[in-house]
Amino acid sequence: MRILSGIQPSGKLHLGNYFGMMKPALELQKEGTAFLFIANYHALTTVSDAEMLRKSTVDVALDFLACGLDTDRTIFFKQSDIPEVTELTWLLSIVTPMGLLERCHSYKDKIAKGVAPSHGLFAYPVLMAADILAYQSNLVPVGRDQKQHVEVTRDIAIKFNNEFGQVFTIPEPSIRETVAVVPGVDGQKMSKSYNNHLEIFGDEKETRAKIMRIVTDSKPLESPKDPEKCNVFCLYRLFASDSQRIDMENRYRNGGFGYGDAKKALFEIMWSYFEPFRKKRKELVNNIDYVEEVLRSGGEKAGAEAVKTLNSARRAMGID
Ligand code: ADP
Ligand code: TRP
Repeated sequence: MRILSGIQPSGKLHLGNYFGMMKPALELQKEGTAFLFIANYHALTTVSDAEMLRKSTVDVALDFLACGLDTDRTIFFKQSDIPEVTELTWLLSIVTPMGLLERCHSYKDKIAKGVAPSHGLFAYPVLMAADILAYQSNLVPVGRDQKQHVEVTRDIAIKFNNEFGQVFTIPEPSIRETVAVVPGVDGQKMSKSYNNHLEIFGDEKETRAKIMRIVTDSKPLESPKDPEKCNVFCLYRLFASDSQRIDMENRYRNGGFGYGDAKKALFEIMWSYFEPFRKKRKELVNNIDYVEEVLRSGGEKAGAEAVKTLNSARRAMGID
């Protein structure tokens, strides 16, 4: 089985990225051949500062390696090291109906937030389809907001195979329903563009302060509270063992436990969860040559697969 996912280097990675995509993808590493890549071509649709893009690309590489990416099992690379993907995007765009792209929520949301409606932004899902199809991927672990893009990919692949013959494997999205939408400190979906996120590798003081600002209702300390309706608890349970979770649920329900106490417990559990990853990341920062070598060699392996698929697609269409 081939597992593939990508993430844009468009800012610091946060708990939504970690629980929605990184952790599920890293756990799937054991189930087959995994491809994980840094989607820097996609990031160009929203990042126009070249230095920032370069820096974020290295940061994402460090974050993934620190969080447990196993370079023996996973092909880890930069999207832009595989130029075949951009050629495949053109071939796929030939069979992509305009209506399919016009229905994409992500495009409509970005326009609503003020991103300029460029052709690149509109064609974003076709580039994503090329990413997925180039490596004949079976399973694509993503958060719920990317599900539609994987469905678009399936539609494009099915249409291409019907018109030109069997070239592409039809992929399936893999979405963990329990963490499909991680809430931010304001209760909306956690996202760097809402600035409601908690960074995986954030500064200790800032992380603590941001946790203390998580929105809750105004029930007094003595009152029993419903954990299911509390953003603090929703985040706490992501880190907790079963017994820690049950214990926390009881504290909420029994009363005499305030939201301030819950926030402190969330900070503690989050900070200790990421402690070994922070240690690993510090080591990697001092060994950037190694990180670059991982990406270079991943790019070589991924490229070899993408060339095969691109050649099949070209042949099927009569471009030999
Ligand atoms: P952002 O919204 O911060 O820009 P991205 O769109 O770059 O995040 O998302 C990268 C990956 O992380 C995707 O697979 C996405 O589904 C997942 N993801 C992002 N935010 C969340 C969230 N709040 N809950 C669950 N998954 C998320
Ligand atoms: N669009 C994805 C996101 O914003 C990133 C991405 C690009 C991706 N290509 C992909 C994810 C292929 C999975 C598979 O999160």
